[in-house]
Amino acid sequence: MENGNKSEQMLLTQIAEPAPVSGSKVTVVGVGAVGMACAFSILTQNVASELVLVDVMADKLAGEMMDLQHGLTFMNNAKVNASTDYACTAGSKICIVTAGARQKEGESRLNLVQRNTDIFKGIIPNLVKYSPDTILVIVSNPADVLTYVAWKLSGLPKSRVLGSGTNLDSSRFRFLLSERFGVAPSSAHGWIIGEHGDTSVPVWSGVNVAGVRLRDINPKAGLEGDPENWNKLHEQVVQSAYEVIKLKGYTSWAIGLSVSSLASSIIRNTSCVHAVSTDVKGQYGIENEVFLSVPSVLGSDGVSHIVNMNLTSEEKAQLQKSATTLHEVQVNLKW
Ligand SMILES: NC(=O)c1ccc[n+]([C@@H]2O[C@H](COP(=O)([O-])OP(=O)(O)OC[C@H]3O[C@@H](n4cnc5c(N)ncnc54)[C@H](O)[C@@H]3O)[C@@H](O)[C@H]2O)c1
Ligand SMILES: *[C@@H]1O[C@H](CO)[C@@H](O)[C@H](O)[C@H]1NC(C)=O
Ligand SMILES: *[C@@H]1O[C@H](CO)[C@@H](O)[C@H](O)[C@H]1NC(C)=O
Ligand SMILES: *[C@@H]1O[C@H](CO)[C@@H](O)[C@H](O)[C@H]1NC(C)=O
Repeated sequence: MENGNKSEQMLLTQIAEPAPVSGSKVTVVGVGAVGMACAFSILTQNVASELVLVDVMADKLAGEMMDLQHGLTFMNNAKVNASTDYACTAGSKICIVTAGARQKEGESRLNLVQRNTDIFKGIIPNLVKYSPDTILVIVSNPADVLTYVAWKLSGLPKSRVLGSGTNLDSSRFRFLLSERFGVAPSSAHGWIIGEHGDTSVPVWSGVNVAGVRLRDINPKAGLEGDPENWNKLHEQVVQSAYEVIKLKGYTSWAIGLSVSSLASSIIRNTSCVHAVSTDVKGQYGIENEVFLSVPSVLGSDGVSHIVNMNLTSEEKAQLQKSATTLHEVQVNLKW
């Protein structure tokens, strides 16, 4: 143009400097099936004002970034960026880690532990370098042990490192309960605690609809000798991931929504209670330093409180067994 001004410069007159990093910047590391489901849920539910994706596969990363950017017109004006360089994650309120190997058909979560620990050595210090006050949400499996690994590698306070844990297992449980009770999943209350995986613990003593406890109607619910075989629902929860992986190759939508709900509680400082993986040393008779899921209050600083559930002696014993299983895996890790 004659005067050297480009059209785009003539369109706007600058009044103020751009704002620094917004308060709800979220980073997702790993743009596989799970990372992208998390990213999509977070964007469509207006949880973050700024989303950054990181992966080691530069082409896949750029493709996923562009594909999301092309949909921003239909969303609430979030920003989306991506890079293989952690510098672009600077100032993230939350960093969600979904990078790493996933279960093959029939493979257990715990089998992935050393491979993903080694991957975390390259990820966690970089995240904390650029976002020293961040909250880490660990999704990669085995989620509980890797939350412990991330806590060790990060140097962050325990309250700022949590695992997505049994938030997903609890949602699977509530869906199955809802079908049997004939009420909505959000009205079927029940908690799965402990390991995200094979030794998870269903808290049958607390299952209720509107405060009416299943155990008061059927004292054997969830126990051996229950003529109604409620515990089949927990077996289905444990098998869920194996079954979905067998059918579609991976799990994605439910974990994405579950992680988005955690991010929302943190960013909006809601004090909502979620089953997330947190350090339970000294709680529920657990003596070792292990991370596993118990109902936890989430807010701007991460896990602010844990709920003291009134577990039956069987449930408490199962939770301690879950802790022992995880501790055994932890002590065999190579750092
Ligand atoms: N916690 C849960 O409830 C839950 C649920 C489902 C899956 N998972 C776990 O989430 C993880 C991801 O699963 P997926 O299906 O998305 O796998 P995927 O293979 O589709 O994606 C993994 C991504 O991680 C990336 N990656 C690998 N090394 C990396 C590194 N060093 N830095 C950055 N990125 C790296 C890969 O390039 C890939 O894009 C697996 O460990 C899986 O078991 C957890
Ligand atoms: C996106 O990230 C790249 C690489 O870190 C950076 O150069 C660019 O400025 C970022 N864009 C925005 C809009 O933040
Ligand atoms: C978050 O909520 C808690 C509990 O309501 C409150 O004490 C705290 O000040 C809030 N923090 C922020 C940053 O708003
Ligand atoms: C906990 O549950 C037991 C029954 O399992 C009951 O006797 C006890 O009163 C309960 N305690 C609290 C604090 O609710």
